[in-house]
Amino acid sequence: MNTMKEPGADQPPSHRTKRYWRVAVLANIKDENQPLPPGVPPDAYADFDHIETIEHIRKAIESDGHETAFLLADENLPFCLREYKPDICFNIAEGLGGDAREAQIPALLEMMRIPYTGSRVLTNGISLDKTLTKRIWRDRRLPVAPFQEFIVGDESLRPELNYPLFVKPAREGTGMGVDLKAVVRNEKELRERVKWVIEKYSQPALVETFLPGREFTVGIMGRPDVKLYSRHPEWYDKDGFHRFPILELDSSRSVTPNIYSQAAKSKSVGEEGAPGYFCPANIEPELTRKLQYLAWRAHILLYALDISRTDIRLDAEGNPRLLEINTLPGLTPGYSDLCLQASAEGIAYNDLILEILYMGASRWGMLEPREIPAEAKKR
Ligand SMILES: Nc1ncnc2c1ncn2[C@@H]1O[C@H](COP(=O)(O)OP(=O)(O)OP(=O)(O)O)[C@@H](O)[C@H]1O
Ligand SMILES: [Mg+2]
Repeated sequence: MNTMKEPGADQPPSHRTKRYWRVAVLANIKDENQPLPPGVPPDAYADFDHIETIEHIRKAIESDGHETAFLLADENLPFCLREYKPDICFNIAEGLGGDAREAQIPALLEMMRIPYTGSRVLTNGISLDKTLTKRIWRDRRLPVAPFQEFIVGDESLRPELNYPLFVKPAREGTGMGVDLKAVVRNEKELRERVKWVIEKYSQPALVETFLPGREFTVGIMGRPDVKLYSRHPEWYDKDGFHRFPILELDSSRSVTPNIYSQAAKSKSVGEEGAPGYFCPANIEPELTRKLQYLAWRAHILLYALDISRTDIRLDAEGNPRLLEINTLPGLTPGYSDLCLQASAEGIAYNDLILEILYMGASRWGMLEPREIPAEAKKR
């Protein structure tokens, strides 16, 4: 991070067009007592948030003088939005079922013309679909492992895919459908696992070359005009983006050795069977720069807005390969990968949440741009 004070950093933050806002935090909540809606996989709650995470986000937003409410992102949301009349929504909703659930809430908010944070409909729809995402990246020469999507299950395996292979649902998150059996070593295991994914998750199975190397995740925050609105312009590089320090996930001694599975993700940091989290990762500066460049390109190519986290693994030759991008990264303090990366470089949780809020708000005309002194503009 650029910690040097920039010209203009002493300026007051850009001011709000209204003194404070009504902010609705939108999320789906883990609630094992509620029956699952029809059409969602049995482990759908894995991707949802704990109510405590919502409380942390609300407190962070209230710390800067705003009023907040939590609105559950289910089919009653349109009515709740009409009643609460938020100025802006802080969106972390995963959505319910269908082929682009993470795009459902942005689509509703666009229709109701309510401002919201983070990426928009198209990006959240595509980024949930790992196959489509990888096709876009591959088209622009970003490194991805060879892959093939199985829709029926008995498609013939393409010759460039050699065992061992890795099988996962094409459109899930939080390690859903990922355990040790995701690694398949022969035709029989491949067919069994592909069929299991298609049936259990009612969606295509994505089959990729198994990547045996180290695993990293890289957060990206910002956009080219961010310094006009940010409370912390000094966080950003010249191009308006902040690259978080690289987090390495060391799964070698986790419950699922070498795989960052749903079981491993559900453990608390430091708990027996949890992966090791190392931030900043102990790697050469050249690899750090490469991973940060790849995550930034991955973000730009999907039109992601303001915040994202990209997962990357090394192949057998030690070359990075992009796995997927999370345009709604988890925001649980002390637990979610992005929060671990922020705290590793001294970014406080409240500041991270407020930054996401203000970046979103500025796109909807809710903030006046700050004056950037002429000397800062020249840099
Ligand atoms: N091709 C692969 N080779 C080796 N391991 C893989 C491969 N694809 C995925 N994995 C393992 O499975 C984990 C989950 O995969 P991935 O990140 O694609 O899915 P996810 O469930 O959407 O993740 P998230 O929780 O970040 O949303 C990875 O973190 C990695 O450990
Ligand atoms: Mg992932």
